[in-house]
Amino acid sequence: MTEIKKIGVVGAGTMGHGIAQVFALAGHEIVMIERTEECLSSAKDRIKQSLARIVLKKKIKEEEASDVLKRISGSIRIEDLKDVDLIIEAVYEDEALKRGIFSRLDSMVKEGAILASNTSSISITRLASSTKRPENVIGMHFMNPVPIMKLVEIIRGMATSDITFNMIRDLCVRIGKSPVEAKDYPGFIVNRILVPMVNEAVYALMEGIGSPDAIDSAMTLGANHPMGPLALADLVGLDICLAVLEVLHRDLGDPKYRPCPLLRKYVEAGYLGKKTGRGFYEYR
Ligand code: 3HC
Repeated sequence: MTEIKKIGVVGAGTMGHGIAQVFALAGHEIVMIERTEECLSSAKDRIKQSLARIVLKKKIKEEEASDVLKRISGSIRIEDLKDVDLIIEAVYEDEALKRGIFSRLDSMVKEGAILASNTSSISITRLASSTKRPENVIGMHFMNPVPIMKLVEIIRGMATSDITFNMIRDLCVRIGKSPVEAKDYPGFIVNRILVPMVNEAVYALMEGIGSPDAIDSAMTLGANHPMGPLALADLVGLDICLAVLEVLHRDLGDPKYRPCPLLRKYVEAGYLGKKTGRGFYEYR
């Protein structure tokens, strides 16, 4: 394969729909895969809303937004990815689930197609080992909200080829992102640093050092962060923060990564942040 044209995105949730949008905006034809028609239509609605914001800011015209939508199709059949050049997996942060998807994709996509994962912490080398094409497997870790955040962390697995790496790096630049290479190490760069900070903020809340507002205001006004760590956890998803911490804790074996019991409690209660309408804050 010499050029990446058609792209598949498996999982069109918080990250997947944003990934589909940025590639479609850059002119690529996209196939989004979800488990149900309802999930697909919710992803399309979120893309429409995001494009509407971009139109409102006069960054693109209304006709361009409608062309972007035309380039995105959806399916509940993973087999519909047979002819794509690159697949970006963006399903829930569960290693067994991701491995199953990689193995299935490997058996049906065309020779030479690249399989990428948007995992926030799981080893790319381990995911690649569920395929017979580890040289074509790579990590592409986008940041939330995908249409706004410039960074894509690119992670080589042990066997990722230079050709695959260079194609993905160039592709990221072409769609207006800024790629940074990170080693295949738990949490890569961003989550290794950011998620322990979020965890510490939840400890501060649990220990009564400050209210959610006080903790977030302290970090926005005192450290110039664009949003406080608890609001950020709500944006990313408390379940995702917990999953990343569990990988850091287990794979690095250092007790400093132990997830805060209060974070676990919120997740058990189903208070996962913006996506469920309640996390450290309430959303209507
Ligand atoms: N689609 C399109 N445009 C969007 C958008 C979306 N989903 N979300 C925000 N925007 C646009 C707005 O229209 C606005 O555009 P403008 O600059 O042209 O006016 C701009 O983005 C800023 O948005 P707002 O004015 O509504 O809000 P803020 O100024 O408060 O910015 C934010 C919102 C960009 C989310 C900012 O608070 C921020 O940068 N927060 C930190 C985000 C962050 O750290 N993300 C990384 C998380 S870690 C991660 O994702 C890894 C994962 O593995 C856990």
